[in-house]
Amino acid sequence: MVLPEVPKGLEDVRESSSLALNEEGFSSKRWLAYFQENKKSCPQIVIPETVNVSAAMRPPLIHSLQRFQIGETGEGKHLKKFAARMNDPVYEQCIDMFIKEEQHHARILAQMIASMDGTLLTWHWSDLVFIGLRRLLHLKTEIFVLLIAEVIGKCFYRTCSANLEDPLLSDAFSLIVLDELGHLEFHCRFLRNQFEKSPVFLRQFVLICWSLLFYCACLVFIADHKQALAALNVQPKQFLKDLTSSFRICSRRSLSLEWKDIVEE
Ligand SMILES: [Fe+2]
Ligand SMILES: [Fe+2]
Repeated sequence: MVLPEVPKGLEDVRESSSLALNEEGFSSKRWLAYFQENKKSCPQIVIPETVNVSAAMRPPLIHSLQRFQIGETGEGKHLKKFAARMNDPVYEQCIDMFIKEEQHHARILAQMIASMDGTLLTWHWSDLVFIGLRRLLHLKTEIFVLLIAEVIGKCFYRTCSANLEDPLLSDAFSLIVLDELGHLEFHCRFLRNQFEKSPVFLRQFVLICWSLLFYCACLVFIADHKQALAALNVQPKQFLKDLTSSFRICSRRSLSLEWKDIVEE
């Protein structure tokens, strides 16, 4: 499988400190064009019945992928309902395509699990906790919580892509990471647009609450997935560092703030 170029329009979706949001703001039309283009250019991924993953690595990897698979499966009914209140049919279409991309990831993960002789879960407490938190208030709350899951997913998939020996699995994870980068940018730009006129103190308060929730989620995630991280040869501390740096980029893009902005005040 040959990896595609970063989709057109997302050349700037790269995690480097030089990445800066352009001043175009959030455009539903532009994002719909991105999702449509991404769907068109998405290569067909078929995971063979057997893959080159050692017997020792299979149980912890299956354990982790089962949890991600169930998280990617949702129909997004609640998110769609909230999106409908934005009175922007194009944004609703974007949300619909975003959910379909996540469901596509769920199908790929299911194939991966089957190729390692694993079975799928029908529910998991971590998924229920995320759903409960997302539904607490309104669309913005839902997206803040969703972004935490996106950051964790993106970092974990990238770790799999970098450390798995099977080239097909590694490429499949890379393709998912590309989609996740798009999702992060999509939601961050939306939030930035929503908070554009909000006073600094409000954005600071949101960042404090968001960060607390993020670090709690990270600690729970690392405790639950420590065996997979060990099998992938990644230290929990190193993974937390990776999560933190992705979250900082997210907070800068969504709220135009970082922790140091609060601490230094
Ligand atoms: Fe996903
Ligand atoms: Fe995603």
